[in-house]
Amino acid sequence: MDFKTQVAAAAGLPGVATDALLVLVAGETPPEGLEAPLATVLAGAISSGDFACKAGQTLYAHHVPGVKAERVLFAAVGDASPKALRKTLGLAVAYLKTGGAKSLAVALAGASWTAAQAEALVAAISENSYVYRETKPSAPPAGKLAVVSLVCAKADAAMLGAALQRAKAIAEGTALARECANRPGNHCTPTFLAQQAQKLGKEHGLKVEVLDRKACEKLGMGSFLAVAQGSDEPLKFIVARYEGAAKTAAPVVLVGKGITFDTGGISIKPAAEMDEMKFDMGGAASVLGTLKAVAAMKAKVNLIGIIPACENMPSGRAVKPGDVVKSMSGQTIEVLNTDAEGRLILCDALTYAERFKPAVVVDIATLTGACVIALGHHRTGLFSPDDALAAELLAAGDAALDPAWRMPLDEEYDEALKSNFADMGNVGGRAGGSITAAKFLQRFTGKLRWAHLDIAGTAWKSGVAKGATGRPVPLLVHFVLSRAR
Ligand code: BES
Ligand code: MN
Ligand code: ZN
Repeated sequence: MDFKTQVAAAAGLPGVATDALLVLVAGETPPEGLEAPLATVLAGAISSGDFACKAGQTLYAHHVPGVKAERVLFAAVGDASPKALRKTLGLAVAYLKTGGAKSLAVALAGASWTAAQAEALVAAISENSYVYRETKPSAPPAGKLAVVSLVCAKADAAMLGAALQRAKAIAEGTALARECANRPGNHCTPTFLAQQAQKLGKEHGLKVEVLDRKACEKLGMGSFLAVAQGSDEPLKFIVARYEGAAKTAAPVVLVGKGITFDTGGISIKPAAEMDEMKFDMGGAASVLGTLKAVAAMKAKVNLIGIIPACENMPSGRAVKPGDVVKSMSGQTIEVLNTDAEGRLILCDALTYAERFKPAVVVDIATLTGACVIALGHHRTGLFSPDDALAAELLAAGDAALDPAWRMPLDEEYDEALKSNFADMGNVGGRAGGSITAAKFLQRFTGKLRWAHLDIAGTAWKSGVAKGATGRPVPLLVHFVLSRAR
């Protein structure tokens, strides 16, 4: 999908050359200054009760005399906030998907666009045009829409053009994350994730290194290795580096959980909905998507993605409850529950991250069901002992319409991890499960400025709309860009 600006013709909206014209109507009364043929259609529909200026309402008109576009769609967008725009544009695009329009021009009646509104528009259109088809060739076609333009004043065109390009990069990174996570576990293996990283490397000049089991053994990653040992699928420890700033600039490091399928291991999960554990590499996918977006924008920042990738399987060689493993940090861990595997692979990746002397490290993981209970599917769980870093991430999430919510890390929660046989157990009790998971990770971050994002509730949707969301790529890209110079 191509996004561009289109300076409004002298004849105004009726003169805009496009297959379909979408007129966004803000506020509770018809906009002032709307040109005659359009204003007449709108007023007529309002008086006949077929349209009201209430967020979410739409009206379709075909071949309006005096309007160049064959198709005209009106949509009420409430206060026209980026959030409201994103919601309504989803509906409008779902409609256009089935039609014959190849080009769409979008106008904000009686107002000028802001960069944030332009970004929301790109996000809405992109997310609603994505179709998963890799293993479903019968999926309906994505629609004919290929070009979307923002109708704007000449003075705003440069600013909005830049906003559209940035938004497009975010949308494409998000789509990559969705696509990777949607692929089933027999397609999206650790090897596949490594190939995706290598492909990104070729396309964008990233330095990509993939460590195998032997290399991880040399590094002493006993915790990561313990999770991987039950699977016949070879593990991959992926490191991808984007260098957009001076070598001396400390990098942002993102660590993504890459469990390509989580059966729970010997502490096996119930059968119901276990298929959704193919999404357990959503953190890894978001790291790849963020790298893609940041590299495509050529942002002036150094960014490193680290992805420990493996399956969590039961087998005769699998790690067992009660086994004690030694992490790369030297700390020992009693594996009380093999289904708490995410933290076991992340802890070694966090220790590995130290070598890059990072400015900050953010890990992203579909880590706990408890986080879904705490926050549902709207906000990602954010954990950090660092107030400034937490504030940056929260602000990035708000700006990206990909919100997070800060959770506590009081030392009292750490007690749940005590073990009689190792430096720590890998689980606390059921109480505060997302917090004790974060406290476990925190034990491996002594030398780092660190934050943890638990995306168990936000990385995918269940039910009829089952599928990956690509979150939190928008949050992460905003965060990384805010650190670029
Ligand atoms: N990948 C799961 C977390 C998960 C579960 C995400 C359900 C989304 C929905 C993780 O590896 C896991 O199994 N966590 C356990 C931890 C428990 C054993 C302490 C959980 O949340 O039940
Ligand atoms: Mn698990
Ligand atoms: Zn898991």
